[in-house]
Amino acid sequence: MNILILPGDGIGPEIVSQATRVLEKFKTEGLSIQLTHGHLGGAAYDVHGHPYPEATQKLARAADAILLGCVGGPKYDTLPRAMRPEQGLLGIRKDLSLFANLRPAMLYPELAASSSLKPEIVAGLDIMIIRELTGDIYFGQPRGRRTNAAGETEGFDTMHYATSEIERIARVGFETAMKRNKRLCSVDKANVLDTSILWREVVTAMSAQYPEVALSHMYVDNAAMQLVRAPKQFDVIVTGNIFGDILSDEASMLAGSIGMLPSASLDANQKGLYEPIHGSAPDIAGQNKANPIATVLSLAMMMRYTFGRTDLADRIESGVRSVLKAGLRTGDIAMAGEPIIGTSVMGDALVAAI
Ligand code: IPM
Ligand code: MG
Repeated sequence: MNILILPGDGIGPEIVSQATRVLEKFKTEGLSIQLTHGHLGGAAYDVHGHPYPEATQKLARAADAILLGCVGGPKYDTLPRAMRPEQGLLGIRKDLSLFANLRPAMLYPELAASSSLKPEIVAGLDIMIIRELTGDIYFGQPRGRRTNAAGETEGFDTMHYATSEIERIARVGFETAMKRNKRLCSVDKANVLDTSILWREVVTAMSAQYPEVALSHMYVDNAAMQLVRAPKQFDVIVTGNIFGDILSDEASMLAGSIGMLPSASLDANQKGLYEPIHGSAPDIAGQNKANPIATVLSLAMMMRYTFGRTDLADRIESGVRSVLKAGLRTGDIAMAGEPIIGTSVMGDALVAAI
């Protein structure tokens, strides 16, 4: 396993080093793991003057899988857009063609009370959001600023999806649904957008190849509402880049804390970038307060999706469950009055439980 470690910014280094301890543990058990280390985001800008520098590109292309902390921070807010940390993230996704972003939102029973929704609405929640990650308005050209007919400055972006892009992400959606509860909800805005009309047509046509999957379609505004009204109606959701960005943040709150959720971004050959879905939390960076669980769970996804090591993924996930059962809580998942532990003590507990 040739794994590139990119700690990134903010709390990234703290949480990634806890996950790395899990890899080191696997190594001592005889697993052949080779770790390389690099920079992405603000950390890369500081060292190389670019958020996705050539040195990182080389390492990323050579790796089988990448573990990323998170990028961004106030220090970089005033940089020109091309140099900002987020561009590093968008750059590596595009460079490696990581078009399929898997964002599970599942609730650990121990955390039912930490959700902002009533426990009975979220108990047993287990949704997989599949977000297209290399197309849509995120990358569409033309974009920029221009002077309109009235002589006023306007900003503009372009949303588009080609049939082949829709097909390949829809296939990930159908295949994922086949391995789960066989329900797939495709989310679009086909009542307004031409891009979405094509999206819906292509997904519908593909459903003929998956007769066992119950396919439904939902407009994105309704989906946002249904996610907080009755989230358990969903099994797998497949959607475009911008809708998936928004809905996955919303869904993360159902699970109690954004500090719990991992993600995978995969290419067509199961090479992947794995990262917690939360941001760099600059307000608590370097204070040993961040929750490393989302990063450790990202490692579980790596073992499952890139390396096909379901056994190791299961070990990591049951380790997380036992630590939660034992009542260990970082600040983000603690209820009022519960004792709070730091990042490294949580890491100790995780490594021991795994
Ligand atoms: C995410 C983030 C990124 C995105 C930002 C940091 C560019 O919000 O991974 O969801 O919009 O894709
Ligand atoms: Mg986002």
